[in-house]
Amino acid sequence: MSSVALTSRSAAFSAVREQVYMIFPNDLNSNETVFGGLIMAHMDRYAAVVADRHAGGVCVTVSVDAVHFMAPARKGDVLVFAASVNRAWNTSLEVGVRVEAECIGSTVRRHILSAYLTFVAVDGNGKPRPVPPLTTEGYSEQRRFEEAQFRRNTRLKHAEDIRALRSRV
Ligand SMILES: CC(C)(COP(=O)(O)OP(=O)(O)OC[C@H]1O[C@@H](n2cnc3c(N)ncnc32)[C@H](O)[C@@H]1OP(=O)(O)O)[C@@H](O)C(=O)NCCC(=O)NCCS
Repeated sequence: MSSVALTSRSAAFSAVREQVYMIFPNDLNSNETVFGGLIMAHMDRYAAVVADRHAGGVCVTVSVDAVHFMAPARKGDVLVFAASVNRAWNTSLEVGVRVEAECIGSTVRRHILSAYLTFVAVDGNGKPRPVPPLTTEGYSEQRRFEEAQFRRNTRLKHAEDIRALRSRV
């Protein structure tokens, strides 16, 4: 078991802000918009940094849900990533990621993607280990905290329903 002290941590402690990626032609799909998998790979990396910081050690992605592509990004756009912990439970935590795009020469940003990733902190044997609780500040962090519990309940219920369904067929 890790010796990480389980004192609460704020979202700001681990948050990643304003991480940029410039889109080049080899990032595009055959529709001339950005390949979604590229955005998802970046999203997972930034979210992993946030999870590792919060947990004070290695975390693995266990689940990704609610990936919503709101608008396409195009050649010449700059993607801007932000990620922070929404809630921490026993050994798992949820990280929310928001991706925006800005066209060079413009200050206007478009919302490209929002997603929620669940990570589990693991020890040297790959076994789950406890994570510090999250303290929230202000309305937005409290809203994300509440919504994360709602998503967790839905995830667990879904997994239970699938298990029940499989046991009947
Ligand atoms: C993550 C992993 C260590 C969990 O092991 P496990 O034996 O299933 O652990 P548990 O059943 O004790 O669950 C541990 C936590 O994960 C959560 N969890 C497990 N499966 C989950 C899922 N599908 N979605 C969301 N959370 C999940 C549990 O709710 C629990 O959280 P809590 O302690 O905060 O309540 C194991 O599933 C694993 O190694 N998965 C592969 C991860 C990986 O390699 N990711 C990179 C992609 S290649």
